[in-house]
Amino acid sequence: MPTLNIDMHLAPEFDKAIECMGRIHRAIDKYTADHNTIVGKLVEVLALTMSVSSLGAHTLNYAARLHDVGKISIDADVLHAPRALTASEWVQMKEHPAAGAKILMENNTPFFGLAADIAATHHEYCDGSGYPLGIAGGRITLAAKMVTVCDIYEALRTDRLYKKGYSHNETMTIFSQGDDRVNVAMFDSTVLEGFYRAAPVFAKIYDRKTAA
Ligand SMILES: [Fe+2]
Ligand SMILES: [Fe+2]
Repeated sequence: MPTLNIDMHLAPEFDKAIECMGRIHRAIDKYTADHNTIVGKLVEVLALTMSVSSLGAHTLNYAARLHDVGKISIDADVLHAPRALTASEWVQMKEHPAAGAKILMENNTPFFGLAADIAATHHEYCDGSGYPLGIAGGRITLAAKMVTVCDIYEALRTDRLYKKGYSHNETMTIFSQGDDRVNVAMFDSTVLEGFYRAAPVFAKIYDRKTAA
């Protein structure tokens, strides 16, 4: 199994600062802020399932909470469009990974380096079908591959203005059988195997979110 050496001793005040940033983000974009938080929680579970240390899994949780921070640079009418995006709106939306990485890279520390990598590549897929660069699996870090699976799980589950969220079982069927957006070749096989093992806990975490 590939290893992930990202053990970092984050001070409790640092965690609180990230959580506070999430609440600030929530005031301008509730959907993205809540999504960032839940993806962080999910990826911590996935990391523990894949035998990452508790310290590393915790680090990944807080780095993942910043993965969509670049969406603050997207026009509100695109971000909150109550329909599928037009081609030109998609061009703008696809700028959010680089926009987030740019913000995060201004902090030259190992944690923000990890967070910037995840922000930059969380929409890149192993088969090269992702964006913005279309790089393939060998050029995507394990941390980003793990966040990608959690990102898609959360996005499929959640109601948006233009679509109803899927149940856990429906979401798992999409992962295993594919649909017009998801196919198994997009994912790292080891990460996917960990995801299937972690999935019952994912369902519980997601259900707690929606009950809150
Ligand atoms: Fe994203
Ligand atoms: Fe996301």
